[in-house]
This record gives sequence, structure tokens and C-alpha cells, in this order.
Amino acid sequence: MTSPLMPTYARLPITFASGEGIYLQDEQGRRYLDAIAGIGVNNLGHCHPAVTKAVVDQAQTLVHTSNIYGIGLQQTLAEKLCALSCMESVFFSNSGAEANEAAIKLARLYGHQRGVERPTIIVMENAFHGRTLATLTATGNRKIQAGFEPLVSGFTRAPLNDIDALRAIAANNRDVVAVLVEPIQGEGGVRPAEEEYLQALRQLCDEHQWLMMLDEVQTGNGRCGHYFAYQGLGFTPDVVTTAKGLGNGVPIGACLARGPAADVFKAGHHGSTYGGNPLACAAAIAVLDTLQNEGLFDHAQAMGELLRDLLAQRLGSLPGVRDIRGRGLMVGVELDQDCGELVARALEAGLLINVTAGKTIRLLPPLIIDEAQVRELADGIASLVETWLLPAQSA
Ligand SMILES: Cc1ncc(COP(=O)(O)O)c(C=O)c1O
Repeated sequence: MTSPLMPTYARLPITFASGEGIYLQDEQGRRYLDAIAGIGVNNLGHCHPAVTKAVVDQAQTLVHTSNIYGIGLQQTLAEKLCALSCMESVFFSNSGAEANEAAIKLARLYGHQRGVERPTIIVMENAFHGRTLATLTATGNRKIQAGFEPLVSGFTRAPLNDIDALRAIAANNRDVVAVLVEPIQGEGGVRPAEEEYLQALRQLCDEHQWLMMLDEVQTGNGRCGHYFAYQGLGFTPDVVTTAKGLGNGVPIGACLARGPAADVFKAGHHGSTYGGNPLACAAAIAVLDTLQNEGLFDHAQAMGELLRDLLAQRLGSLPGVRDIRGRGLMVGVELDQDCGELVARALEAGLLINVTAGKTIRLLPPLIIDEAQVRELADGIASLVETWLLPAQSA
């Protein structure tokens, strides 16, 4: 049967019918442990009762009006987000790419306001920022860009964790107005930006009045053991973007700003029909309240440590395993060879995982995962990797 869907996704041959907590059920009734959570979206698991109730209640009250009117829930959500993050103003979008588009436009406007005619944003090699034209240009992956030229101007690229490369750009390029970086590159292979690098970057941004902009679309919303991954690292960015876990599956993204970045946008500078509508905001408020009330930041940290420890115990000394890394419940297991086929093998074993940057198994389980479930997950991953690597090595 031919499908009327544009074949933009290489889909796995499975369709899910329902979900509860960290488990999904397919159309045949088989249960799967979901260790990818919609690629870092379902941080509270599937159909969390607090989010379900908020969505149902709001759907019975008011789904959508327009940003030409006041939206009380948007105000409430923005206040909660600012209180959690030390940010001062928020623009709501529907997705991560759009949150980054807002940040890119904000940085350009900030540059123009300071007399920079051709504002330039530094972005990183192997970064991922989305699929719109500006965000795919910011993305450091030729495969994603190829065929969509001409790309957008106003970006310059640097290697991650190389502060000298940024100093060299600073010395030669007076058009730079901002740096956009992921605290941990998700699509780029669960590659953390080093703490000292980020701190030095903060300093460099201060010296040159560049905006330090963090893409926390994947790392935010408790994923790394704090609301945002930068928290606890001893600095605050000027702009931070997020989406994914913000609505636990209800589409919503946000671009947050502080200091001089907080009041760059004025009426008419940016907009979105749906961005921050009552339904999405009700979901996001329920998510934020649940994350806090259930102590899920500390829990994610503890469960992430346990998961990495258990994986290290089983896999750490295996010759084909290069690294086990991550923060909170964003975990990568890097092998010494391409391992994309593990996704299908895991599926057969009732486990949903993802492989990123060719060689890295990426685990993003819901933050509500408990200790027994972490053990179940670690055991499943370890068995999968062992049986895959061991015959390959003895061949
Ligand atoms: C770091 C990062 N930024 C941006 C995006 C794009 O988000 P969306 O797919 O919601 O547009 C993603 C999605 O994977 C991401 O991981």
C-alpha cells in the first residue's frame, strides 16, 4: 500500500497504541520500555495524570484565542520559568527550531541596535539546532544542509570545547554578536560542552558584549538533573531556548532572555499564531509543577548516576566500548564502530533506544524512571551490546 505521507522519516516498522509511565504498548499489545521518550520529550513518562488532567480541563475551558489578546496562562508559565531559571523575559513558540529562530532573530536585532550591520552568530561543529532554514544553517551537519542551499548568511563555525578558536574569531571578526551552543550535543553524539569551556565562553561573551545563547531544547526541563543544564555550572547565559520536555508532548517551545537581551524584542518584531496558547501553557504549567513537586531534578541526577554506574560495571571493560557519558538522564554509550542496527535489535528485545552520530547509543528515559526500572534498562542495554560486540570481536 502506498502512503500519502511524504517519506521524510526513516520509520521503524512499529506503531504504538498507548502508553503509561515509562512503557509503551504497540498495536499487538506488546510492551516496550521507552528509553528514548519521544527523543527527550516525555520527561514525565506517557500520559502522566497531572498533565492529562491539565489538558482535559483546559480543553473543556479554552483551547485557543490569539496573541493579539492577553493569555493569563502564558503569563503564569513565563513567571514560573523565569523563577526557575533566573531569566527575565520569555517568547513562546511551538517547537525547538522555532525557539532557536527566535534566539537568532533576537541576536541579529541586538547586533543592529549596537550598530553591527552584518551580525554574525558563532555556532559549533556537530551542533543540531533544527530543520528550518536558519536553524539548519546553524546546525553543524552537512547531511542536514545538503540540497537546501543557498543557506542563510550570518553564521561562523567553531569546534566545540576549543576556547582558543573563539578567541581567534574574536580577534578577527567584529561582526560577531552571539554564540549559540548546546550544553550537551544530543544529535551530535551526547557530547558535553566542558564546564570550564562554558565558563570561559561566558567570560569571552562578557568581554566582547556577545550574547551567550544556550540551546537547551534537549538538555532542559530537568533532563540533566537541573531545570536547565547550565544550572549548577556557575554561570548564567543571556538567552536560553527550550522545547521538547516543556509540554511533555504537547507542542510548545520557549526562548528566554535576561539582561540586555531581555528587552530586545518589541511589538511587531516576532510572533506566532499558536505560540503559548492556553492549551499548551496549561500542559507546560502542569509539567513544571510536577517536576518540582515530585523532586524530579534530584531524582534524574540520582537515576542517571545509577544508570551510568551499572552500564560501566557491565560494559566499561569491553574493548568495543569507548565511553559511557552524560549528565542526569541524558546518557550516551559510545562504541568503536557504527551501531545503528542496535536500534532494531533493541526493538525486538522490547527496548526503545536511539543511536546518534553513528556510534553512540543515546538513552533519554523518562525522568520518572525508578531504581528497578533503571536496573531493567541497564541490563537490557548491557545484554544488547555484549551479544552484538562479542561475536564481532571473536570473528
Ligand atoms: C538541541 C536541539 N535543538 C533544536 C532541536 C529542534 O527541535 P524541534 O524538532 O522541536 O524543532 C532539537 C531536536 O532534536 C534539538 O535536539
